[in-house]
Amino acid sequence: MNKKLISVLVSACFISMVVAQQSKNIVGAGKTVDPYHYKIVKIATFNKACVASAHPLASEVGLAILQQGGNGFDAMIATQLTLAVVYPGAGNIGGGGFLMARKKDGTQIALDYREMAPAKSTRDMYLDKAGNPQNALSESGHLSAGVPGTVAGLFATAKYAKLPFATLIQPAIDIAANGFVISAEEAEGLNENRKDFQQYSTRPTALVKAQPWKAGDTLVQPELAATLQRIKDNGAKGFYEGETAQLIVAEMNRGNGFITLDDLKNYTAKERKAVSFNYRGYNIISFPPPSSGGILLAQMLKMIEKYPVKSYGFQSPQSVQLMIEAERRAYADRATHMGDPDFWKVPQETLISDAYLAERMKDYSPNKASVSKEIKAGTIHESDQTTHISIIDAEGNMVAVTTTLNGSYGSRTVVGGAGFILNDEMDDFSIKPGVPNMYGAVGGEANAIVAGKRMLSSMTPTLVLQNGKPFMVVGTPGGTTIPTSVFQSIVNVIDFNMNAADAVNSPKFHHQWLPDEVMIENNFSVSTKLALEKMGYKLRNIGTIGRTELIKILPNGKREVAADIRGNDSVAGY
Ligand code: DON
Repeated sequence: MNKKLISVLVSACFISMVVAQQSKNIVGAGKTVDPYHYKIVKIATFNKACVASAHPLASEVGLAILQQGGNGFDAMIATQLTLAVVYPGAGNIGGGGFLMARKKDGTQIALDYREMAPAKSTRDMYLDKAGNPQNALSESGHLSAGVPGTVAGLFATAKYAKLPFATLIQPAIDIAANGFVISAEEAEGLNENRKDFQQYSTRPTALVKAQPWKAGDTLVQPELAATLQRIKDNGAKGFYEGETAQLIVAEMNRGNGFITLDDLKNYTAKERKAVSFNYRGYNIISFPPPSSGGILLAQMLKMIEKYPVKSYGFQSPQSVQLMIEAERRAYADRATHMGDPDFWKVPQETLISDAYLAERMKDYSPNKASVSKEIKAGTIHESDQTTHISIIDAEGNMVAVTTTLNGSYGSRTVVGGAGFILNDEMDDFSIKPGVPNMYGAVGGEANAIVAGKRMLSSMTPTLVLQNGKPFMVVGTPGGTTIPTSVFQSIVNVIDFNMNAADAVNSPKFHHQWLPDEVMIENNFSVSTKLALEKMGYKLRNIGTIGRTELIKILPNGKREVAADIRGNDSVAGY
């Protein structure tokens, strides 16, 4: 890791948020999670179990649940519900997500709780009369929201958990009702979105106050607490039916949105079959369509597998160029071949087969940039805001969850009287063939809007096994950069033998076929950048990429865990 990164890491390690507030013990006897005083922990090694998430309070709640006898599934439910309160930009009950888990007995669970297009949706709903795309409508406000899946996903997960749901949701209710101290980043996010919250919501919200937010302020969310209480009292029906559903529909009616009571009542989470493949002797398990993540990951890793990446050197021009060309080809396939499998036949087996991928790399030439215009999707011969949680428990249950509102603070529409933000996930559909969405991704028929269809995702919650035993739990937000971040984190560990922190915090780069450019982080190697430019690549600095949470299980069984330095992300464990 370079020196600059180390100094950021050290200074970020122990930021303590202290205000003159009474401490609160919110998770029962002996397990104190104090929402007014908490610290960020970036790296640790634990003997038995750990949680890494985007917020210290969420990770601490997850730990407290593990210590109360919960397993990894209990911890994930409690952590995600806490994120919905303490990380309103992405943690959510108004969005959706994917859970990729492996039980200690080896059973794999791929749970899809992605949002769904409301029944009134039509293919051209974001085009004006002249056929021009109206991106503002798919990215913001009531019409951008898909039917939320998160609460259905949490209840579908609960069947693998041990503790009562009431215990798992109580910390989130308490933190919403009593408040928590916000960080500088959260204050900035809320201030930046203040106008949007006012423009896209039809009722006042706790996220907007008279004066700008500052670090150390307390955010209290009574309406969100009441919604969580209804979920505690009535289960999933506390969200999809009754008062909460009526509040959502009333908000839709005031803002010309499409979601109806029937859309909510009909929503179900679905179990899918994981994408499973081998890379250099490790077994990788990742999420299938409606995410593109697992297929892209398999394609990229398998395209580079026959090359001696390690001997090329970490982020040498040679290794980066190879990885860029694998990324370009995989993303060309994403645009044509991937969509919700219930509406579009995704040729999954072919896309990740050795023969197909060898064919895709046939025109790869070392030291020379390919041109995306010439790299079409393969021919098949057969009929910004998201957050990730990585958990392993003492029994060896592995849980990776990526969940999202899509853009930062989603649609910025807060449901009046219910206190939570709705997603703007409809923008993940291809609103018109060839027109880029907010991540610059293009698509076509496979990802066109159809009522009841789930929009194509890039989320890539991923598990890695070594000799059939748990080895890594990994995932990240970042829109279309997600699969490439997971790809590079895995290569960093497997090929370059990095520890969890270096694998996460090393600079990332990203190519997604179109636009034909390599996106890089601020601290990407200057000499590699120059060498790539000489080969014909166009590079663009986009600041930072992703916020990865990675657990690596060491040969002695200890859990080495790293939370990304790029945010307030934090680990906890025992
Ligand atoms: O599902 C997807 O691929 C996107 N909605 C994810 C958005 C995201 O990661 C934003 N985070 N920075």
